[in-house]
Amino acid sequence: MVDTVKAWQAIQEAARPGLTELFQAEPDRLSRLTIDEGGLHFDFSKTHLDAGLIDRFIALADAAGFAKAREALFSGAAVNVTEGRAAEHPAERGQGAPESVARARHFHARMRALIDAIEADALGPIRHVLHIGIGGSALGPDLLVDALGRDSGRYDVAIVSNVDGAALEAVFRRFDPAATLVVIASKASATTETMLNAASALAWLAEAGVEDPYGQVVALTAAPERAVEWGVDETRVLPFAESVGGRYSLWSSIGFPAALALGWDAFETLLEGAAAMDRHFRLAPPERNAPLLAAFVDLYYAAIRQAETRAVFAYDERLRLLPSYLQQLEMESNGKRVRADGKPVDHPTAPITWGGVGTDAQHAVFQLLHQGTHLVPVEFIASIEPGDALDEAHHRALLTNAFAQGAALMAGKASEDPARAYPGDRPSTTILLDSVDPARLGALIAFYEHRVFANAALLGINPFDQFGVELGKEIAKSIETEGTDRFDPSTRALIARAFG
Ligand code: F6P
Repeated sequence: MVDTVKAWQAIQEAARPGLTELFQAEPDRLSRLTIDEGGLHFDFSKTHLDAGLIDRFIALADAAGFAKAREALFSGAAVNVTEGRAAEHPAERGQGAPESVARARHFHARMRALIDAIEADALGPIRHVLHIGIGGSALGPDLLVDALGRDSGRYDVAIVSNVDGAALEAVFRRFDPAATLVVIASKASATTETMLNAASALAWLAEAGVEDPYGQVVALTAAPERAVEWGVDETRVLPFAESVGGRYSLWSSIGFPAALALGWDAFETLLEGAAAMDRHFRLAPPERNAPLLAAFVDLYYAAIRQAETRAVFAYDERLRLLPSYLQQLEMESNGKRVRADGKPVDHPTAPITWGGVGTDAQHAVFQLLHQGTHLVPVEFIASIEPGDALDEAHHRALLTNAFAQGAALMAGKASEDPARAYPGDRPSTTILLDSVDPARLGALIAFYEHRVFANAALLGINPFDQFGVELGKEIAKSIETEGTDRFDPSTRALIARAFG
């Protein structure tokens, strides 16, 4: 078996035919580079992966111990080596060590019982849900509720993350305190922004004359004792396991607002969709494994073609929050500079993820994608089933545009006039969902989680810690507690200007 250095060298030295040539050279390209799984169609054929390159990446995966790392993930081993714990989000979907799966089921049962009680008005006539959390404790629920809960008519859910009081005030203006459930979502039950927002929400309930404000509070956390200490009744604390990472937590009790807004059956279907993708990732051979092929694409463009960013465009309003969700998942997981063994990485890690919604983005940023000097691998995500009941012309135009952009990026266009010439040979991936529903969305999110994991395993980094976010938090706290003397002149002057 070759080592990773030799495997990378082989990838570096592979021939680099253009995309159009690849379609000519590989008549079976489309069937080999498209994968159908769980109602999702993945098309990697407009990337520069070819049979030879895939073999070389599989050799890299072998050299990097990918299969063993994947088994360690699913068996509940301590894959988060820097924090000495497992990463058990698959157990939330029934895939993992039996004791972890049993614990996840137990916590889900608590969640379901509380939802039943709320539906039976045990906490009063709840119609509004104010979910307070940040990062992984907000982005996942927000995506689910926005994508799937638009017409559910069950509860009006607002997700507030920013410590900027304007975010909370906007909800206070809209919601009736007597009919509002305040949900405090924090894995640590200690995040400054969340706890400050939670205190203000509680004060709002009290000031509005709600007799028992704490009676309308639910906590979602891996530190239940802290939530109880804060004042939440134990019966309304929904725990989840410490081994479920924040940005992987929407499957746990952090998904509570989504389960409430969509109904329990829909939430279970979401978990089942993710479980189907877990099985695919675990069992499909490397050359037919969607998350693994996607990781090959990511690594190829970042390491070999020096792409510094990758762009994700949702051609579906319901998935408009997907790019921001993916920014945390990909950049907080793999934005690392040392390997899990502490040594510096020898290749670029996570590309900068950015994106938006099609077709809007076409009229704003696509100029750069077609004619700019940066190489940006693009991902298009669309659904065959429309999300609207208007004339089918809308959905046709939406999909036609998504497909046209991929074709244009690849084919380019010659012109005598340099300003009007398109170089082409620009890569894209398309993910086409049968529809935007709980099963497909569950599978899609799990696909991205496993793609992140595969990238990390091939680079030798730990995707499950995030020490890079700590320093800024510490400094913010110390400004309040220790004053400003130890700071640089610029920071001192800014603080003085703002606070006097
Ligand atoms: O600051 C980063 C982070 O720890 C994320 O990883 C996490 O999703 C977010 O903060 C919120 O943390 P918590 O759920 O503990 O409040």
